[in-house]
Amino acid sequence: MGTKISIPQGVMKPRKRNSVTKNSSKGDSIQQNLNINDTRTSTTSLDPSLLCFNNHFALKALFEKNTLPVINENIDFELSTTRVLDIGCGPGSWVMDMATEHSHTQFIGVDKLPLFPQDIRPANVTFKEADVLAGLPFEDNSFDLIQMRLFLVTFNRTQYIESLNEIYRLLKPGGFVQLVEPQLMDQGDDFIKEYTSKLKIIMEYNDYDSEVSDHLSILLDKTRFITKESLRKGVPLENHPLSKEFQYIVHSSVVSCKPFLMEVHGLQTDEEFEEMKTRYMESRKKTESVFTVAVGQKPF
Ligand SMILES: C[S@@+](CC[C@H](N)C(=O)[O-])C[C@H]1O[C@@H](n2cnc3c(N)ncnc32)[C@H](O)[C@@H]1O
Repeated sequence: MGTKISIPQGVMKPRKRNSVTKNSSKGDSIQQNLNINDTRTSTTSLDPSLLCFNNHFALKALFEKNTLPVINENIDFELSTTRVLDIGCGPGSWVMDMATEHSHTQFIGVDKLPLFPQDIRPANVTFKEADVLAGLPFEDNSFDLIQMRLFLVTFNRTQYIESLNEIYRLLKPGGFVQLVEPQLMDQGDDFIKEYTSKLKIIMEYNDYDSEVSDHLSILLDKTRFITKESLRKGVPLENHPLSKEFQYIVHSSVVSCKPFLMEVHGLQTDEEFEEMKTRYMESRKKTESVFTVAVGQKPF
């Protein structure tokens, strides 16, 4: 189910010949895929669903609301005909929080995987397993608001555009799309810079836009939307009321990518991974976590 990621020559640190992988639950399968000391391209698998860490309330606190002001000013959430969709909803936190705030509106969350709650949910919420790249099972012009959040490492450039085209089809004329993406942190000490530069090389090699958070308005424009509002906010990972929450998000994202990071950094054991993670978190605390929210409107 994971996304296949190719790691180009020169980025991946080779592992030592004949070394044994110990205490690593996923290390064995990586070891088998990896031709030791071979600097040719390698392929590994990254499961974006694992990145659905508990970030919803931290993002809501950072941006002060679940939606930017232009949405709140233009969508009537008191109407029972108002329909909202969250694509790649993961555990469904945004949908359920929105549905609790706006009990008259109908909310639908879709995800390729059934990560959302199966039984417990507000009465005005429906979840569906569906793949946005295969086309969603909803009529043209049928939603007032559609959100797609945190797809940086999920969709490559082509897939990002395909999903925006599908969002365009589904929105009513005058309807809104809200996109939320993180920035890859390349400020900081040499350790952070090397870590991020490797990630960027791998993403670009696989045609992922490592700077998608800077390009949201361009993507909206390319897919015929009019950008109505865009907001970028950062949280210092130390000495800020939200530092702990955002440190937790960064930590969870590193843990979620463990097999991938072990391959890239040539790590053999859980201990080596823990050491790298601790070093990364210590360096990362001196930096910020930055997110951008952009809102586009489908023309009338
Ligand atoms: C990084 S998570 C983001 C979850 C959620 N949007 C949030 O803000 O917490 C990406 C989600 O997109 C889902 N996903 C990946 N490809 C998809 C596709 N083609 N169609 C629908 N959902 C997809 C994954 O299963 C995962 O739940």
